[in-house]
Amino acid sequence: MSQRRKLAAGNWKMNGLSADLAKLRQLIDTYPNPGCEVLVCPPATLLDRVRALTADKTIALGGQDCHFAVNGAHTGDISARMLADAGAEYIILGHSERRTAYGETDALVKSKSSAAIAAGLVAVICVGETLEQRKGGGTLEVIGEQIIGSVPEGASEDAIVIAYEPIWAIGTGRTPTLAQIAEVHDFIRAQLRMRDDGFAADGVRLLYGGSVKPSNAEEIFGVSNVDGALVGGASLDPTDFGAIVSALEAAA
Ligand code: PGA
Repeated sequence: MSQRRKLAAGNWKMNGLSADLAKLRQLIDTYPNPGCEVLVCPPATLLDRVRALTADKTIALGGQDCHFAVNGAHTGDISARMLADAGAEYIILGHSERRTAYGETDALVKSKSSAAIAAGLVAVICVGETLEQRKGGGTLEVIGEQIIGSVPEGASEDAIVIAYEPIWAIGTGRTPTLAQIAEVHDFIRAQLRMRDDGFAADGVRLLYGGSVKPSNAEEIFGVSNVDGALVGGASLDPTDFGAIVSALEAAA
């Protein structure tokens, strides 16, 4: 059984101005030496300044999306190499908001993930079902297809993290039951073990995401194969995110 380092990841989405860096300072001051890995993914406009605040790397830094190409005529886009150059170590890819709003397919997520890994970033690849798919009993089938379609072949276990984020739980205050989270996370682990990638499937970290809050973090972190969380709304509040980090430290 390999040791997976627990990960509390904050996805700021399209939130954050210079003034919000003070909140991050508060988080850093509260957790000078966190007992789990802490990752913040601010908007690209703040990457440089967040990196300056976290220069000692006690808090890891990530982007939220990238283009699959290294550079070129892609107005408005950012490449993985640019994110790495700005100090990012991680990147969120295939978030359901991008899959839904920009029609991102599994194949596109896979090519972005390959580009991210080639640039030296850890790809946090998001998967998750709609409420209709869950009600129709199709959750595991959907997740299985997304894993096969989105995770690049030959990636090392350290280069990817999988985030299970049921779409209906994101920003809604609703969460699956602990048994439902366990079922999906155990399934993802089993799917990874079946792959012929040559990677150590048991070394891949699996995050749960979708309405994680201080009030539910502890019980979620107690679920089998949950190695941390991808946190949206609650990551914008340093007190709430700090409480989630504490819950993960206690679980670690
Ligand atoms: P939420 O978002 O914590 O606000 O539900 C999670 C996410 O979208 O990553």
